[in-house]
Amino acid sequence: MERLLCGILLYAKPHHLEIRELDLCDLAITAIEVASRMRSSIDCEIRLQSSPVPSIRGDRDKLHQALLNLLCNACEASGKTDVVNVSVCTYQQPNWVKLSIHNWGKPIEKEHLSRLTEPFYTTKGTGTGLGLSIADRIIADHRGRILFDSSAERGTTVRVELPMADLPADDGPTTMLISEGRT
Ligand SMILES: Nc1ncnc2c1ncn2[C@@H]1O[C@H](COP(=O)(O)OP(=O)(O)OP(=O)(O)O)[C@@H](O)[C@H]1O
Ligand SMILES: [Mg+2]
Repeated sequence: MERLLCGILLYAKPHHLEIRELDLCDLAITAIEVASRMRSSIDCEIRLQSSPVPSIRGDRDKLHQALLNLLCNACEASGKTDVVNVSVCTYQQPNWVKLSIHNWGKPIEKEHLSRLTEPFYTTKGTGTGLGLSIADRIIADHRGRILFDSSAERGTTVRVELPMADLPADDGPTTMLISEGRT
């Protein structure tokens, strides 16, 4: 119940972002360390492959929360000996930075892919179904996007794309920095 209430508050309350210049690799390292210490991810190994990437501008705590939600999902979907692979690189150089999380385990059914970020959509007995909607909102607040790909052959990949720090506002979605709730 407490987890559900925290999730609803995180999803519903206006996001005030404390913007600063950030390194997505550093954020990934911290989120992986925290996820690895969490009970749900104890059995799965998370590996990071990264190349130096341009800075992004964003709210460290909010982006940490988003990455943690994505990493927890990847670990929860994985089997005991599976490896979750995280990579950080530039995308459509030099304007965007991309973070991908790949896991094996039961793939997401095709018809469910478009519902993943709906609040309360879950296939887990104990899930709130808010993890992805919170992550999606945080990434959208940073003018980025989350993409999902899943199949039995390829596994599941969740890709987060964020504009680098000095990308002109015209080159990305227009909502910036503070969101008073999604329309
Ligand atoms: N990496 C993934 N691999 C496989 N399925 C996934 C993955 N990420 C999300 N899903 C599916 O999407 C659903 C919604 O995820 P979301 O994080 O929003 O909620 P949840 O994980 O079920 O609950 P909570 O985040 O509160 O623990 C999950 O129940 C799961 O079915
Ligand atoms: Mg989740």
